[in-house]
Amino acid sequence: MEFDQRIAIVTGASGGIGQAIVRRLLQGGASVMLADLHQDRLDAVRAGLGREFDPARSATVVCDVAREDRVIAAVDATIKQFGALDFVVNNAGTMLFKPIEQQTEQDWRGILDVDLLGAFFFTKQAFLRMRRGGAIVNVSSVHAVETEPLVAPYAAAKAALLSLTRSAALEGKAKGLRVNAVLPGAVDTPMLWGNPNVQAGVEVIDKADVGAAADIAAAIAFLLADEARFVDGTSLRVDGARLARL
Ligand SMILES: NC(=O)c1ccc[n+]([C@@H]2O[C@H](COP(=O)([O-])OP(=O)(O)OC[C@H]3O[C@@H](n4cnc5c(N)ncnc54)[C@H](O)[C@@H]3O)[C@@H](O)[C@H]2O)c1
Repeated sequence: MEFDQRIAIVTGASGGIGQAIVRRLLQGGASVMLADLHQDRLDAVRAGLGREFDPARSATVVCDVAREDRVIAAVDATIKQFGALDFVVNNAGTMLFKPIEQQTEQDWRGILDVDLLGAFFFTKQAFLRMRRGGAIVNVSSVHAVETEPLVAPYAAAKAALLSLTRSAALEGKAKGLRVNAVLPGAVDTPMLWGNPNVQAGVEVIDKADVGAAADIAAAIAFLLADEARFVDGTSLRVDGARLARL
């Protein structure tokens, strides 16, 4: 299979898209470390993988991606458990809904710490410890390109994540590591339907523009696979053409 003998870390693995990424990588034969904030959720997600997958090919680690020491510990745990590291999917993300005049420095730092620095911390560890032939995928958002009111720190962090993707692709090349990003559009997850802008009608979602978490996972699997060896430093919109419309 495409990911046989490959070892991946997926952050935000308990979330809607994270779970789909974990499943897709396991289906491809990878071993996967599920990283997220809470052990009980991670346990439930891992249990939910059921009998379809060999339990020896998955493990969990509590990791706040905003803390570099926790990221180092998560990479340590992955290498201890599975022997190496080939893929990182920086999928953990958080959002905040507030008008700019009400936002605080802490609001901004909180979002940037998770949505941008978390990916930096993992990229640094990957560059120090990942095997040649490895790959990173950063989960950005269409908000990196077009956005709406009340989500300025999120949109800024997701845009900066595309810039980090480019920089890391350039520096990763000599190490034999590729770095790409996906920009999901509206995805059928609790994050979408719990979005206060969606609930208030500020952001109107046409059902035809809503994809499944598995659609995002499929794009990520493509970017990680050896087949995509010449795809590097790119940002792939996965939004069902939502942004293409005038
Ligand atoms: N759902 C959508 O429509 C959509 C659209 C575009 C982009 N995205 C992006 O996709 C990614 C996954 O989103 P989702 O829809 O699955 O949302 P979700 O809220 O279901 O999942 C996000 C996960 O990240 C975890 N997380 C948050 N802060 C963390 C931290 N500090 N350390 C570790 N884990 C942390 C959460 O616990 C959660 O499990 C996010 O980066 C999000 O910005 C989602």
